[in-house]
Amino acid sequence: MCGIVGILGTRPVAAHLIDAMKRLEYRGYDSAGLATLEDGHLARRRAEGKLKNLEAKLEAGPLAGTIGIGQTRWATHGAPTEANAHPHATPLVAVAHNGIIENFRQLKDELIAAGRVFSSQTDTEVVPHLVTIELEAGASPQEAVARVLKRLTGAFALAFLFEGFPDLLIGARKGSPLAVGHGQGEMFLGSDAQALAPFTDRVTYLEEGDWVELTRSSIIVHDVSGKEVKRAAVISQASAFLVDKGNYRHFMAKEIHEQPDVTGHTLARYLDLAAASARLPELPFDWATIDRMVITACGTAYYAGLVAKYWFERLARIAVDIDVASEFRYREAPLSPGGLALFISQSGETADTLASLRYCKEHGQHIAAIVNVTTSTIAREADVVFPTLAGPEIGVASTKAFTCQLSALLSLAVAAGRARGVLSAAQERAAVDALAEVPRLLVEALRLEPQIERLARSIAKVKDVLYLGRSTSYPLALEGALKLKEISYIHAEGYAAGELKHGPIALIDETMPVVVIAPHDEVFEKSVSNMQEVAARGGRIVLITDAQGAETAAMETMATIVMPTMPSLIAPIVYAVPVQLLAYHAAVQIGTDVDQPRNLAKSVTVE
Ligand code: M6R
Repeated sequence: MCGIVGILGTRPVAAHLIDAMKRLEYRGYDSAGLATLEDGHLARRRAEGKLKNLEAKLEAGPLAGTIGIGQTRWATHGAPTEANAHPHATPLVAVAHNGIIENFRQLKDELIAAGRVFSSQTDTEVVPHLVTIELEAGASPQEAVARVLKRLTGAFALAFLFEGFPDLLIGARKGSPLAVGHGQGEMFLGSDAQALAPFTDRVTYLEEGDWVELTRSSIIVHDVSGKEVKRAAVISQASAFLVDKGNYRHFMAKEIHEQPDVTGHTLARYLDLAAASARLPELPFDWATIDRMVITACGTAYYAGLVAKYWFERLARIAVDIDVASEFRYREAPLSPGGLALFISQSGETADTLASLRYCKEHGQHIAAIVNVTTSTIAREADVVFPTLAGPEIGVASTKAFTCQLSALLSLAVAAGRARGVLSAAQERAAVDALAEVPRLLVEALRLEPQIERLARSIAKVKDVLYLGRSTSYPLALEGALKLKEISYIHAEGYAAGELKHGPIALIDETMPVVVIAPHDEVFEKSVSNMQEVAARGGRIVLITDAQGAETAAMETMATIVMPTMPSLIAPIVYAVPVQLLAYHAAVQIGTDVDQPRNLAKSVTVE
């Protein structure tokens, strides 16, 4: 994972490197470091923990130099200590790395046998040692890097800074993204265009296997064979502004409250409200020929896909094969050429999702992607992109991206259903009318926050929570459990309510709250039976339902959250709000780092 950046500038670069690294903190935040050339000599500052620790170190010991590289880390090999923080360096070269060098063990054994001394437990440190051996043997920096790259396996992006070379940065990309920014007498490297946005909007995305030599006035790109190649520059849409928290205590709270607006923007993109119909961009496939589709994603995006499976199967009669990307990519799934594969990702950089996309591409699928970051690798590699207009999502826990993904997915399912002749014009109109209500219903759901905050005080005291749901509420139960565990560190599990009696019912006692997500829909009676099974065993129920559900269930609960009445089709979008708020307030109560919870990163760019 991790974010890397490099600047060949005309002014002192340390502060600018920090600026760019702040924009890459979503890729990891357990340590950070940078290296510059001070009078031609390598100098480094590194710190354990968040970037503010590195800033404090720089304040105490500033770094001069108009050329430098930096990295913000998510530990893969070696604990998040200062010794393991990047850049890793020898007296001749410093290296910032994103990704994994898979054959580092063999390389490290070989280097140790040759007398090299290591100062970290990272996979990365083999790289500066290998380059140094080449430099000591008389190779130029370019020759040294070209030779070493051939020896590395894995998925990675690298930035190199050389002792005594104040007008040279080298970048390399294999598997992990790397962008080159073109400035006025300055050049930049970054894991994404967002990191470079304060400096330039002219960006060249390196292709798989490329490496690049940068000076202040030139860019030379080599492909995997070492041949010089031309790569086009594009104008990036990445914003130079860093979003702030506004009046909220956490980004997560702000993002939860933005949902009425951003789902509205997303829906406006896919619906023609005046004509009461779904409106999609031109597609490279014909819905009529698609009987099966594959959906692949990770984490919250996967749960959005799981909800969409119900929608595509019901509304468009398209069979959906859905899997988490880390399983799908190695499953060797048989795919008939001409099929449709849909990938869902907020960041558009998730390594497993990207690898699954490439697998499907190799197997002749039409590639569609729902992404929030439209400059991302997944967006660039897809045949057709359906953007979610959630705006930057900073909190590690995905909230507004999820409801925007659901809004786009339901619009797509409706369009598919209509195009395939499954939905009549009247049914399409009813679905579009329901979708148009989503922003208002989200506002109403947000009004329940004081009640949910009170409930969260009790939830914050427990060790385990079970979430149950049926039909489209089942993925929401999974999402509720994920939200709670990732930000509050309370153990939580999501189950299909019908599975309760096949095992999890053994967990029920008076200490474990059971959150039941049950709008008054076609499976409501079944959910009530499951709740009774819980109540009969002394379980404490938190029921999230609507007025009719609360009245029909007529059960004694620990709390009943009464949601606004709505068509069951859109319930998964609106019912996301109480599960998000419950996790958020439990975490605030416990005092965890809500926006940057331990051990996590916003974007998981390693497998
Ligand atoms: O950027 P992506 O949507 O591809 O990320 C997928 C997951 O890593 C992400 O949803 C993760 O599970 C979130 N932390 C959940 O809140």
